[in-house]
Amino acid sequence: MIEVNHLSKRFESIMAVDDISFAAGKGEILGFLGPNGAGKSTTMKMITGFILPSDGEALVCGKKVQEVPTVTKGLIGYMSENAPLYDDMYVEDFLRYAGELRQMAADKIEAGVNRVIDLCALTSVRYQKIETLSKGFRRRVSMAQALIHDPEVLILDEPTDGLDPNQKHEVRTLIRQLSGNKCIVLSTHILEEVEEVCTRAIIIAKGKLLYDGTPADLKSKSKQHKLDDVFRAITTGESVQGVNL
Ligand SMILES: Nc1ncnc2c1ncn2[C@@H]1O[C@H](COP(=O)(O)OP(=O)(O)O)[C@@H](O)[C@H]1O
Ligand SMILES: [Mg+2]
Repeated sequence: MIEVNHLSKRFESIMAVDDISFAAGKGEILGFLGPNGAGKSTTMKMITGFILPSDGEALVCGKKVQEVPTVTKGLIGYMSENAPLYDDMYVEDFLRYAGELRQMAADKIEAGVNRVIDLCALTSVRYQKIETLSKGFRRRVSMAQALIHDPEVLILDEPTDGLDPNQKHEVRTLIRQLSGNKCIVLSTHILEEVEEVCTRAIIIAKGKLLYDGTPADLKSKSKQHKLDDVFRAITTGESVQGVNL
């Protein structure tokens, strides 16, 4: 459902994404794992058609993002960095608006709004202004807008960033519930998040793809099964005791 071939992005002198290739299919929850500035968000922005690559290409459901961006954007639900929202809108109106932006038929919007309100547990805040919501609810509203058109591909940029442990748990549970017939890509710098929700992990550091496999495989590279040791060895290139890459 997602195919990325030799994707690169250069900003002036910075090679933000450097020749990344991978593919992901239905039912996968793919975690982009990497330190800050690794190139995770930039890769996501190229898949969603938000920015153009300097080199390479991204395909969504077999269609090239650069050739038919409006088609591929329609197949994707996207929660960008920091989950931006319109503070002065009411939850329900905002979701209706998101449906309109997605060019959903008027009669489908109402059903869509009800579906995502239910799915993201927003019933109690449905008639509330977004600016009055707690961080956890805000994040769920952002998830809801990404899901309004029931997309096949879901791209979530740091979906649990800034949330407390309980809220993180709720969002992770929701992500797991959503998988099945979707292909989900999420970014994180939290190792336990990858273990808890992802079926597969891709490690990105300094724009390069350094690992592609299952979280369990990743863990098995350390004698003590310590994911953070393996992650450190891969991202820094240092030799770490007990880790055999
Ligand atoms: N619009 C931009 N202009 C210049 N540099 C950018 C821009 N966006 C990202 N970068 C740089 O590209 C690199 C990768 O950033 P990003 O993809 O946001 O990393 P991550 O999401 O993994 O933290 C960083 O060095 C960042 O400063
Ligand atoms: Mg980022």
